[in-house]
Amino acid sequence: MGCRRNGLVIAIDGPSGAGKSTIAGRLAHKLGYVQIDTGAMYRAVALLINRAGIDLDDIETLERFCDSVDVHLEVVDGAQRVLANGQDVTCQIRTPEMSLITSRISALRPVREAMVRAQRAMGCNGGVVLEGRDIGTVVYPDADLKFFLSASPQERGRRRFAELIAKGEQVTLEDTIAAVTLRDEQDSKRDLAPLRQADDAIVIDSSSMTIEEVLSRMESCVDQKSAKQER
Ligand code: DC
Repeated sequence: MGCRRNGLVIAIDGPSGAGKSTIAGRLAHKLGYVQIDTGAMYRAVALLINRAGIDLDDIETLERFCDSVDVHLEVVDGAQRVLANGQDVTCQIRTPEMSLITSRISALRPVREAMVRAQRAMGCNGGVVLEGRDIGTVVYPDADLKFFLSASPQERGRRRFAELIAKGEQVTLEDTIAAVTLRDEQDSKRDLAPLRQADDAIVIDSSSMTIEEVLSRMESCVDQKSAKQER
């Protein structure tokens, strides 16, 4: 799949709240790679579809809409920003409501086809860390390294809760764990590209690991892979 002159294609898949974004950002930074948060891309397109009030059963309109949508990621002052049709939607896509809406909208074929196309175009030269649900299984089945990052639903709920509280959202721990569990169900039971561990993925359960521990485990896998490729 293209020439990877800029480095490896690294896939990090896993359920919500497993720590993918933090880890992908740190790993990309250390390696001098580009981080591609595919969840943010699905959130941005879901926001646009929701705002446009498109009927989710109207596949033709959805196809036309998704083909014309421009979703991309930019780094501004060291922080990743999400742009949807030229508008910065970084904050609007992170509400609990948008999480559930995105989980539903991301199950639709026209949405997935458009996003997978964009993600392949963004990563084809390598030097990328892509995080999502289907990177190692669908977007880049030939990724150089695949990680599946998981954690218990309670731990993921606690992490999400802490994030939301820090942002000033009014939520309870109980509701947050329930929302995380519901999203897991939706994301893993859908027909198209469900959340699934690739057969050749390296599984890391981060429930009782620190970010540093997860990172150092991944880095040693990257070192091994790079050494093999140089031989
Ligand atoms: O990673 P996240 O929580 O920001 O993702 C938001 C939603 O997008 C998630 O519920 C499922 C969907 N998603 C997907 O279907 N495929 C991906 N590669 C990434 C996210």
